[in-house]
Amino acid sequence: MRIGILGGTGPAGSALAARLASVGYTCIIGSRSKYRSMEVRDQLIAKWPELADRLECADNPGAASGDLVIIATPWDSAATTAQEYQELLAGKVVVSMANALVRVGHEFQPLVPPRGSVAAHVQAAVPRCRVVAAFHHLPATELGHLGSPIDSDVLICSDDPEATIVVAAIVSKIPGCRPLDAGELSNATAIEAFTAVLLQLNVRYKTRVAPKLTGIRSDPRDAKKDAAKTAAAPAAGGTPS
Ligand SMILES: NC(=O)c1ccc[n+]([C@@H]2O[C@H](COP(=O)([O-])OP(=O)(O)OC[C@H]3O[C@@H](n4cnc5c(N)ncnc54)[C@H](OP(=O)(O)O)[C@@H]3O)[C@@H](O)[C@H]2O)c1
Repeated sequence: MRIGILGGTGPAGSALAARLASVGYTCIIGSRSKYRSMEVRDQLIAKWPELADRLECADNPGAASGDLVIIATPWDSAATTAQEYQELLAGKVVVSMANALVRVGHEFQPLVPPRGSVAAHVQAAVPRCRVVAAFHHLPATELGHLGSPIDSDVLICSDDPEATIVVAAIVSKIPGCRPLDAGELSNATAIEAFTAVLLQLNVRYKTRVAPKLTGIRSDPRDAKKDAAKTAAAPAAGGTPS
């Protein structure tokens, strides 16, 4: 699979490109300027020469021609960027990782974009795409530490369950990351806003946190089967309920 990254020259997009390339995907680093993309690719290759075959540089239309496309622009340009390339993106899984936030002094505050989240705004802008919200809480720094696993859950939501499965499969290749199906795209509002809390914790505790939820032991499909088995099992001394 070739993964295109729109705005792939920033800290988040370039680190994600390197990380995904390190686990076997071919990544196209997109940019409004092909030259900036070349520069960023060169920087990544200088650090990790072994990734040369799996990192490509392109302008944003070149990145939008990937099989799956991640939007890694600032939040306020994610929907317009997607719309600009809607013909190239039609029918594809498009991942929105943007968080609408503002820093006010030492506080991070979530903003509510049109339709409640950046991801929902992107979906409305490109209705022919299968938009998935993911990667919001993975810090670029940790993404770029290719030698180390990232100990984090990755909350994924979409109105297209098949698209969630595709993105979960990608996330599960990143060492230490556990993909979690967090339901429909409406939940992107909470996922994106929660990033403000995580950034606030980073400031308070002088660290970089990542979310890890307790109590989930299995794949949601196995969980359904387990629940059905429990329901079918005869209660002690009684009949199945
Ligand atoms: N940084 C993190 O740790 C992190 C973690 C998780 C999620 N995120 C999210 O990931 C996204 C990218 O984060 P970042 O820190 O890498 O952002 P960034 O550096 O501000 O921007 C990323 C790239 O977007 C492009 N861009 C900038 N303004 C644009 C515009 N008006 N229209 C189209 N493209 C534009 C630029 O690429 P060109 O100039 O080359 O086109 C830039 O290099 C953000 O939405 C952020 O909320 C970030």
